[in-house]
Amino acid sequence: MSAPLAINISAAVSFDNKVAGHDGVLQDPSGAVVIKPAAELEIEFYESLILHRSFASVAPKFYGVLELNEQSAITEASGEVHRTTGADRAIVLENVAAGFVKPSVIDVKLGRQLWDEQASIEKRKRLDDVAAKTTSGSLCMRIAGMKTWDQDKEDYVVYDKYYGRSFDIKTVKEGIDTFIVKALGTDRRKEVIRRIITGISRIAEALEKEESRMYSASILAVYESDPIAIDEALKEERERPKRSHDDYDESEEEFEEMVSETVEINGQIVEQVSMFSAGDIVVGEDEDEDEDADEKSVCRVKLIDFAHATWTPGEGIDTNALEGVYNLRRLFDELLSAL
Ligand SMILES: Nc1ncnc2c1ncn2[C@@H]1O[C@H](COP(=O)(O)OP(=O)(O)OP(=O)(O)O)[C@@H](O)[C@H]1O
Ligand SMILES: [Mg+2]
Repeated sequence: MSAPLAINISAAVSFDNKVAGHDGVLQDPSGAVVIKPAAELEIEFYESLILHRSFASVAPKFYGVLELNEQSAITEASGEVHRTTGADRAIVLENVAAGFVKPSVIDVKLGRQLWDEQASIEKRKRLDDVAAKTTSGSLCMRIAGMKTWDQDKEDYVVYDKYYGRSFDIKTVKEGIDTFIVKALGTDRRKEVIRRIITGISRIAEALEKEESRMYSASILAVYESDPIAIDEALKEERERPKRSHDDYDESEEEFEEMVSETVEINGQIVEQVSMFSAGDIVVGEDEDEDEDADEKSVCRVKLIDFAHATWTPGEGIDTNALEGVYNLRRLFDELLSAL
């Protein structure tokens, strides 16, 4: 068992592994968690995960909600203030990219329809236009952004939203191929792709099990691109005792620890904390499959961005999102077969 993580949220800084979306995502100085200003719908969705266990296993771990009051503007060393979104509250989430030495990250936005019922006519039209011109329309998914580690230049290559918008149904495989950097060599590339496919399949299973609608949610995939670190992670993985596929079938108590009551301040467990009355947040011990703080990871794949997500019992599965998930999996399958 790992020791609890001490997280100092009052010294939050801008999140440095963001590959898509709006500004305003923050991280604690250690990088263990991200803090995302969020609207009610996304907060409600994360809070509901306590009742949706298998789904929770494919989302980042949810540590709680922070109130962003007037005094709580978060200031970077530069003096820049990050309260651009107008949200009153923020969610504290596991940083999916934490622990990687050189994380390569991709955000793939799901769905052909990218708006929910709350969207204005203008917004619907704007998003439908983007979908029609991109693989969102043809494949129910598009690359929203990515960054890869370039070993030779010792720097990241950043691909913005226009990169992913430039592909069509035929060329999108180039984007997927570019994401899995060639400098790693064929064997390591295959190891990464296999794990990404497994992660995507788990997301597909979670979406097939329950009835929901999530417009503009994303698959976030991260893999280790440092050659030494990935070899260590592969070795550790081989030596690690096998755990069950779905830890969320464990006891009710363990699950509750995982999703909602793991935030402790001064030894007291709380679900909602006021950001600036809080000093250090301590995140409780972690039983999760791939998120033990000390464990090296080869790859992590999660579903993120529930700003437009709801449970819709009786309405059937979310084919809009699932079609994108299947197409993304197929693209990685095809890349693997070609190697
Ligand atoms: N839990 C997380 N771990 C690691 N990175 C994350 C996490 N959540 C978000 N990110 C990063 O931040 C980016 C933006 O996040 P997200 O998609 O949730 O917000 P958004 O698209 O700006 O939000 P919204 O649709 O609510 O306006 C993602 O592309 C990803 O790079
Ligand atoms: Mg997003």
